[in-house]
Amino acid sequence: MLIYIDGKFLPADQAKISVFDHGFLYGDGVFEGIRAYNGRVFRLKEHIDRLFDSAKTIDLKPPLSKEEMAEVICEVLRRNDLDNAYIRPIISRGHGDLGLDPRKCPKPTVVVIATSWGAMYGDLYDKGLKAITVSVRRNPAEALPPNVKSLNYLNNILAKIEANYKGGDEAIFFDTNGYVSEGSGDNLYVVKNGEILTPLTLNNLRGITRMVVLEIAKSLGIPVRETNLGYFDLYSADEVICTGTAAEVAPITWIDGRVIGNGRPGPVTRQLMAAFRVVTEKEGYPIHRKVIGAKSSVARKTAAKIAAAKTAKSPAKRNVARKSGKGRK
Ligand SMILES: Cc1ncc(COP(=O)(O)O)c(C=O)c1O
Repeated sequence: MLIYIDGKFLPADQAKISVFDHGFLYGDGVFEGIRAYNGRVFRLKEHIDRLFDSAKTIDLKPPLSKEEMAEVICEVLRRNDLDNAYIRPIISRGHGDLGLDPRKCPKPTVVVIATSWGAMYGDLYDKGLKAITVSVRRNPAEALPPNVKSLNYLNNILAKIEANYKGGDEAIFFDTNGYVSEGSGDNLYVVKNGEILTPLTLNNLRGITRMVVLEIAKSLGIPVRETNLGYFDLYSADEVICTGTAAEVAPITWIDGRVIGNGRPGPVTRQLMAAFRVVTEKEGYPIHRKVIGAKSSVARKTAAKIAAAKTAKSPAKRNVARKSGKGRK
């Protein structure tokens, strides 16, 4: 496995970052989780936009442009010979001192990892997941907006730990006002009387799968309403669904001991699961396209650098964009 770190493509056992990196010391950084299906990166633009929006919110300036980031992601997939993959781009604050001050970190660290990762929940897509509403609350937007996909996932991990102890496959967060927020790593939906209800996106991550699923629902003529939901709505739902890049579209059939609907994935859930599969198989940013003919001059330059790096013998020479400092924003 080759991992991209700051312009180099390194074998996993050599892919290391400094213990003084504030991503490690403080969770100071941002990341994405992206999937590639059939040689295409699904919703790549949306994921890179969200990565950059998260970075902007924490005042972190990515050392690569969006086009360069897209190129690096595709190159990691190409070098690892992956047409289907889970991809993890990370931008951390970088190397600093033991203090908090980000001004002491002059250069953000960029990492891209890609690996094979099939269906996250295995046979639970047929059976349905058990979910636990957890006592830990989703961190409020006025403290740390859940829309920032930051390297600090401790809030989510605490929820997951609680769900694990209580026998759940996934946790359901409420926000500090008692409204349904999201799962530990996915967005939530209730189906009631043929209508899909889902929380607004202030108290949760604005999921890209959520956006796709809502588009699909609209195209199938299933009514969708974005609204506040409480635990009454969860327990009394006909169907409950969770979605995320890793989880994809998954049914929740049991919450805190209450059987949801008839305890089996419902018709709306199954329709969305099938349609999502079709969309992911067709759409996406081609990994193996001819980048030399790319319209953007940045993409062309990045492609040329990657091509030059490929011919270099030593992995240390396989630098993209960052080594020369050129091509930075
Ligand atoms: C907390 C949280 N909510 C929701 C999601 C779903 O977002 P997406 O569909 O963009 O993967 C994720 C996964 O990234 C997540 O970590």
